[in-house]
Amino acid sequence: MMESAQILAAANAVIFSQDSRYLSDVETAILQGAIADKTYEQIAAESGYSINYLKRDVGPKLWRLLSDVLGEKVSKSNFRQALNRSQSPAAQSPADSGSNLPSASPAQVMRQSNDWGEAPDVSFFLGRAAELETLTQWILRDGCRLVTLLGIGGIGKTALGVKLAQQLESGFEKLIWRSLRNAPPLEALLMQLVPLLSDQQDTRPELEALLQHLRSRKCLLILDNLEAVLQPDPLGPFRPGYEDYEQLLQLVGDTAHQSCLLITSREKPVVIATREGTELPVRSLVIPGLQAEADALLTAKGLSGSVDIRRQLIEAYGGNPLALKIAATSIQDLFDGNISVFLSQETTLFNGVRQLLDQQFERLSTLEHTLMYWLAVNRAWTTVAELYDDIVPPVPQSRILEGLEALCRRNLLEKQRGHYTQQPVVMEYVCDRLIEQMVSELTTSELDLFIRHALLKTTVAEYVRESQVRIFLEPLAQEFRRTFTAIAAIEQQVLHLLTALRRLESHKSGYGGEIC
Ligand SMILES: Nc1ncnc2c1ncn2[C@@H]1O[C@H](COP(=O)(O)OP(=O)(O)OP(=O)(O)O)[C@@H](O)[C@H]1O
Ligand SMILES: [Mg+2]
Repeated sequence: MMESAQILAAANAVIFSQDSRYLSDVETAILQGAIADKTYEQIAAESGYSINYLKRDVGPKLWRLLSDVLGEKVSKSNFRQALNRSQSPAAQSPADSGSNLPSASPAQVMRQSNDWGEAPDVSFFLGRAAELETLTQWILRDGCRLVTLLGIGGIGKTALGVKLAQQLESGFEKLIWRSLRNAPPLEALLMQLVPLLSDQQDTRPELEALLQHLRSRKCLLILDNLEAVLQPDPLGPFRPGYEDYEQLLQLVGDTAHQSCLLITSREKPVVIATREGTELPVRSLVIPGLQAEADALLTAKGLSGSVDIRRQLIEAYGGNPLALKIAATSIQDLFDGNISVFLSQETTLFNGVRQLLDQQFERLSTLEHTLMYWLAVNRAWTTVAELYDDIVPPVPQSRILEGLEALCRRNLLEKQRGHYTQQPVVMEYVCDRLIEQMVSELTTSELDLFIRHALLKTTVAEYVRESQVRIFLEPLAQEFRRTFTAIAAIEQQVLHLLTALRRLESHKSGYGGEIC
């Protein structure tokens, strides 16, 4: 049977592989208490959380999530045994170890200990032969230790990363894929990586431990979305609180070991810029747009038209596959599939993806809007059941599923094993839109979205909550202050809002209090 630290590491690994998040503080408190055979009353007394919150809210959700992931009924009394079983190699089928990518090779299926985390499906993949060849040579022939795929949002860094990792998998003893989209602190990431790299033999969340395992085994480690821990302005350094990621890259790039860290990022961090070189073990590749291959993408989306007009469309979006997918949907929906008419609307092209998303968004149903907002707030792979818990007033799960499927068809969502999330570019757009709407509601006191969406969730990991503060609450507060500059005006508006909220309270709408 596993030790307590191993049980927590295993629970973190299991939850992360399904939900792209780690255990929150309150979930950790429950698990730690349960490991020590404590009652909910004792856990509440020691942790400071209310008994009701633990027993009726977080606890049942946690057991349900673990049951979903482990494929058996998990409760406070049997979770240790269930996690123990899930860690035994025999229990890890490709499906529940997260390695069931549809285009998996037989070798991949055999490599059950690899952990693909939330890597997306790339069964539909076009072109990139030259990039795949270059990257394979860098990693296998030249033994590069740190390789970065760079490029703008939607250009295909993640898709190329998955394809490359699938092709290289058999050359490595161990493969782990993690997304940094929600900016996990390095320690939380190491809590995942070290036990996985050491087959649960080592649980030290330390860089030194990571290096030790990268030296002793040939591992391929992929960190997707590094830009999430980089400072947006000025470009280059890491965000405050994430400086230790710089040390990670320094160590992996400068120290001799037999592994490779593959990174995808929209921006290049200084620590990589100063170390890379064509003959050095640190290299980066800027991913260009798709060329002629993108034509197959238009065909797959059902678009027809002359070779020339299709080429114009591809050029207009710089071969960006995400932009082209969204554009193709708009052309079908708004222009009857006629690319020429679409191209003659110059504003669409000048404003690029944002304009396209505006058009797409205007066409969504109310429920689809709500789903998009909640997925942006959740910031990670989300199930129908979780959305059911989120949405007020409640909507039947069957309708939620219908809405999600419609959004997938509109190319606004990604789907994987019953979990849904948004492309990063789409998520940013939805966050901006939600903030804009809420600012307008706070200004007019006509509260709608504001009372139906929690911008801060208590059931997510601490760092996801911090992301939510940074992404939603801070811009919201800034905009509010910009609109009501004088203190007296702010006070008066806050009073208006409180009155409006009190009036609405009788309707039991929900969440506004959390961000007041
Ligand atoms: N070579 C390709 N063939 C077919 N589809 C592709 C290809 N590359 C990317 N796509 C599709 O384009 C979309 C965007 O790709 P991807 O998520 O890899 O972009 P990204 O560069 O990682 O974006 P971000 O910076 O936002 O993370 C996805 O839906 C993906 O499936
Ligand atoms: Mg990506």
